[in-house]
Amino acid sequence: MKNILVTGGAGFIGSNFVRYLLHSEPDVRVVNLDALTYAGSQENLQDLPSPERHNFVHGDICDRALVDDLLRRYTIDTIVHFAAETHVDRSIVDPGTFIHTNIVGTFTLLEAARGAWMVEKLLPLEQAHFHHVSTDEVYGTLAPGEPSFTENTPYAPRSPYAASKAASDHLVRSYSTTYGLPITITNCSNNYGPNQFPEKLIPLMVLHARDGKPLPVYGDGQQVRDWLYVEDHCDAIWRVIQKGRTGETYAVGGDNQPPNLEIVNTICHIMDELRPNSPYYPHSQLIQFVADRPGHDRRYSIDINKIHTELGWQPRQSLETGLRETVRWYLEHPDWVQAVAQQPDYQGWIQKNYTNRPKGVQ
Ligand code: NAD
Ligand code: DAU
Repeated sequence: MKNILVTGGAGFIGSNFVRYLLHSEPDVRVVNLDALTYAGSQENLQDLPSPERHNFVHGDICDRALVDDLLRRYTIDTIVHFAAETHVDRSIVDPGTFIHTNIVGTFTLLEAARGAWMVEKLLPLEQAHFHHVSTDEVYGTLAPGEPSFTENTPYAPRSPYAASKAASDHLVRSYSTTYGLPITITNCSNNYGPNQFPEKLIPLMVLHARDGKPLPVYGDGQQVRDWLYVEDHCDAIWRVIQKGRTGETYAVGGDNQPPNLEIVNTICHIMDELRPNSPYYPHSQLIQFVADRPGHDRRYSIDINKIHTELGWQPRQSLETGLRETVRWYLEHPDWVQAVAQQPDYQGWIQKNYTNRPKGVQ
């Protein structure tokens, strides 16, 4: 059996990864450490396959004593580190929590792993692995026509979120070069799919369209992201953990780069098809251009050549089918939406970020 500590496994990608592992890997036991911030929910962990191989622990990655205890109690051989503050807009309003969780939290896990695996030698080092889940935002922004990000693109983060993730990447890499801790890193583009907290573009637009609320497009809506279906990301992470070269970084992306406005219009068309009798039909009438995000990165694009050539990974889901499945998932899970989106923090955030936001450029 492999004993895997997943951090942030009650969040969007983490919970999809836990589900993916329990479903596809019979020889894996998962300890899931999550602080259940506003972005984490046990609703994301309902009906897991083989729940007897999953232990949920409510706690903070910055709590060294707790992490030390988990590594020993469960003889953890692999750490897959998702836990983070992740929303760029929130990092602009309140950067402090990003610094603490993303930098100090990652440092705490690294120190605990070094202590257990390299100082106390609780298991042979060849069996140990620390995988850090990171973002393409560490590379900054691309102008139109500029070549895609690769693993060798210099770091140039532009938001407090991106800067905190860049710092965490540097720490993880330094533990490899300085101490020989066996690590890998993935830097991935924008994910979408089931269980994403509805502060992010795609679920926010689906739920606002459902409810006849404005669809707030920042700036001119021509910013470009490289969208990847969440299950493809989980598959990429697991391949890197199993077959990736120790100490290496792999860039992961979806090769889907439509501008935001096109994504929003596609969601509206899917809503029109699925809800032809909605009072808000056609849903595109709800689109409103609003003031841009400060420091808004214009374009992301990922070159997946390394992970494709070395590990044979490529995305399986197309954006067209993935978006359709995603919209359907949110419409078919009103209980999840109710549980996640009715919490006061979410309502407060929507109020703070959108009410009184000045109109945009179109
Ligand atoms: P999310 O915001 O949905 O979930 C984050 C989870 O971490 C939540 O369950 C939260 O409760 C937990 N958490 C936060 N602080 C914690 C702490 N101090 N201790 C323990 N748990 C804590 O995030 P996500 O979108 O699933 O992203 C997961 C990881 O993937 C992050 O590291 C993010 O930077 C990275 N990433 C995300 C994307 C994306 O498009 N969402 C793309 C690339 C990389
Ligand atoms: O690239 C990977 C990153 O993708 C991850 O590291 C982050 O954790 C994740 O949040 C995501 O960051 P973005 O800022 O790209 O995602 P978000 O969903 O917030 O926004 C996507 C795009 O849509 C971005 O250009 C801003 C725009 N947007 C977003 C919201 C919430 C709008 O136009 N209106 C909105 O209301």
